[in-house]
Amino acid sequence: MNVTELVAHFEQAFGRQPAFVARAPGRVNLIGEHTDYNDGFVLPMAIDRDVTIVGAPRDDRVVRLRSANFGDEAGFALERIEKAHDGAWSNYARGVAHVLQQAGFALRGFDGVIYGEVPIGSGLSSSAAIEMATLMAFTAAGADGSAPLALAGAQAARLAQRAENEFVGVNCGIMDQFISSLGKAGHALFIDCRSLAYELTPMPRGVTVLVVDTSAPRSLAASAYNERRAQCEQAARTLGAPALRDVSVETFEQRRSELPDLIARRAAHVIYENQRVLDAVAALRANDVAMFGRLMNQSHDSLRDWYEVSSKELDAVVEIARGVPGVYGARMTGAGFGGCAIALVDDAQAGALAQAIACDYPRRTGREPKVYACVASDGASWSTL
Ligand code: GLA
Repeated sequence: MNVTELVAHFEQAFGRQPAFVARAPGRVNLIGEHTDYNDGFVLPMAIDRDVTIVGAPRDDRVVRLRSANFGDEAGFALERIEKAHDGAWSNYARGVAHVLQQAGFALRGFDGVIYGEVPIGSGLSSSAAIEMATLMAFTAAGADGSAPLALAGAQAARLAQRAENEFVGVNCGIMDQFISSLGKAGHALFIDCRSLAYELTPMPRGVTVLVVDTSAPRSLAASAYNERRAQCEQAARTLGAPALRDVSVETFEQRRSELPDLIARRAAHVIYENQRVLDAVAALRANDVAMFGRLMNQSHDSLRDWYEVSSKELDAVVEIARGVPGVYGARMTGAGFGGCAIALVDDAQAGALAQAIACDYPRRTGREPKVYACVASDGASWSTL
């Protein structure tokens, strides 16, 4: 659905004209997986798939949001924000309203139609996109109607993350909200998840980022994610470091035997992955796509063998992709346990890769993949209509 169609939808639903459009993208992570909550480094890009809200401020402190995807409507009063049932899409919007008010922002109610084109539950951060789009909508609706809120960039991302951690109850790191907020067309974003310093890095020309959704359910993702976090914290504690970010590859190799085997394997992934992100950024700057691809491959193998968050479907995509000429590298992206894998491929070979996946993946897994060519895109924004 494009903005014109959403405007028509809004007019039909609310019997008046919308005043603003707010949007925020999903993301893929190119490299740096399970490093953000270890105060480490990540290199995601925002993708050309958004969550969009077309809306108009209200004179009271009520929010009414109608979903163009599901056809249902969520309404809540800003005075008393309660959680909807577990898994409800509106919890992301409610959570954002809740934390913005806690942080001292005076919010105005609005009516809105919300539409998402980020695949849901596929590891492309549809939830961060809803959070950032809602945050932009509150910004557009303005403080008491007098002026837009002064809220953007890293601060906006942190508030959206808090909504997810404290209200929705998912213990994610900062990466997804940060890239949805600060992505830039044609660029990946190198983020230091401790200092929140960041740097845009141009994407290489002539290559496509192909995203493959395994269409496999992400079972146990939340509990396994929390378990990995706890294992990383245990490793850092034992090594006397504030976070695994502070442990160099050399120190780790010297002291590895102090850790129980399983904990050492988890830590090994994070510590080497942090170094790979730094190497990948250097490779991008040097336009060394081959090196970048090799690092992607190493990242996947480490997530599969040491961190154990891949799945047979993700491994199948990666194996198929690596057998296609013109593919520089392939890896799972996001938390894992299902979801999506990405491949970096020469533009001229992207069609052949998509075809190889369409042909071999169902044969190997019995599932139908979804394949998207994604373009690095701009982060969240809003404008008046
Ligand atoms: C999920 C979380 C992120 C990050 C990744 C793994 O996407 O939301 O914060 O931890 O998993 O890299």
